Amino acid sequence: MRIDILTLFPEMFAPLDQSIVKRARDKGIVELNLTNIRDFATDKHQTADDRIYGGGAGMVMKPGPIFAACRSVMSADRPRIIITSPQGRPFDQQLAQELAKEEQLIIICGHYEGIDERVVEYLATDMISLGDFVLCGGELAAMAISEAVTRLQPGALGDDSSSEEESFADGLLEYPQYTRPPQFEEHQVPQVLQNGNHAEIKLWRRQQSLQRTWRNRPDLLAQATLTAADKKYLAQLQQQNSKPYRFFVSLLHYPVYNKKHQVINTSLTNLDLHDIARAALTYEVEKYFIVQPVDQQRQLIGTLLDHWGDGFGAAYNPDRHAALTRVQLLPYFEDVIAEIEKLCGQKPQIIATSALAEENDQLTGYQQMRQIIEQQGGVYLLLLGTGWGLTEEMRAAADYQLRPIYGVGAYNHLSVRSAASIMLDRLFGER
Ligand SMILES: C[S@@+](CC[C@H](N)C(=O)[O-])C[C@H]1O[C@@H](n2cnc3c(N)ncnc32)[C@H](O)[C@@H]1O
Repeated sequence: MRIDILTLFPEMFAPLDQSIVKRARDKGIVELNLTNIRDFATDKHQTADDRIYGGGAGMVMKPGPIFAACRSVMSADRPRIIITSPQGRPFDQQLAQELAKEEQLIIICGHYEGIDERVVEYLATDMISLGDFVLCGGELAAMAISEAVTRLQPGALGDDSSSEEESFADGLLEYPQYTRPPQFEEHQVPQVLQNGNHAEIKLWRRQQSLQRTWRNRPDLLAQATLTAADKKYLAQLQQQNSKPYRFFVSLLHYPVYNKKHQVINTSLTNLDLHDIARAALTYEVEKYFIVQPVDQQRQLIGTLLDHWGDGFGAAYNPDRHAALTRVQLLPYFEDVIAEIEKLCGQKPQIIATSALAEENDQLTGYQQMRQIIEQQGGVYLLLLGTGWGLTEEMRAAADYQLRPIYGVGAYNHLSVRSAASIMLDRLFGER
């Protein structure tokens, strides 16, 4: 492909002699030429602009030098002749893809107050804007168009599939990407990307793409090609965000007490995995995080999640699949906080729970907690312990400590999954 840029300032174009565009030029994938419009001015001062007819501030670029410059570079039968202007069609990836198929682009850079309208009417085929703002000249716009179009040429990128998967390629914004190290300062790469489960990664990426587009560019969704699963996920997002709060649950296997009040790591009870996930979906909890630092335990939980995520269980029982795909397995409590922060842009307020807490003024009742969540809104994480419960440090560091659930008599030994369901019902269920 050939791109000709007509400008009064060819020295501004050094960026097109760098990186991918330079490589594409060197390889002959794109021929990119700069033409100085002033060279086509016919008077002895090489005047390319003049005063505005009818009066007004500033100068306008004369038609003669632009017509002549353009005619001198035309090589294709019907080149696309583009005027850069804030009044033009907004430049986007779809337009870049359309232009990338052309044999020749001629891009005219305006300056001063703009270009004589006869160039627009009788020479140009397109008028393109970089966005709703006014630049001093069309050079930056010409560079942006040239670069976007060049990188779409076959062979321009190291791997052509890069441009097939990026933002806008399928009408959505691209999912977030990470590279090593897996932990930078206190920020972790999402666990799902590190577990090597390609089906899970694919699903996560698709959902991230949908989520980003929905948040940042909802206008794109109307044109995007969406599957039934995509639509369901978007409906879920819509529903979650119609509430003033976002709510998460986490089950900690570490750090918790054993019956001797020692801090230990417990192992998974499969029923906790299933039942809390089902309760979480029933009460529209956004995610259920299982915290388990021990590798073998994590492998076991991973196997169970795979079975229901994309193994036999997924097709056998789609309702169970729906609940268990809300589960995210993370090694430490801090990872849960980081993950929520990534999802919500803020850390959650922590609601600690205990079956054993002594009655005191610091405890929050369910009615009061419900009001806080509904009226103040925000992001919350309900912390559930295993073994003999959450450590005192965890409880003391929480923003709220819920009162224990009491039964009718003296016996008080609910399983954490039963307690979780009762708590969720008191916080979100019918009054
Ligand atoms: C100061 S601007 C002229 C603006 C013009 N008087 C108007 O109000 O539409 C000078 C030149 O900068 C370029 N330019 C400015 N903003 C642009 C944008 N958003 N997209 C593309 N080109 C732009 C055009 O080439 C334009 O002719």
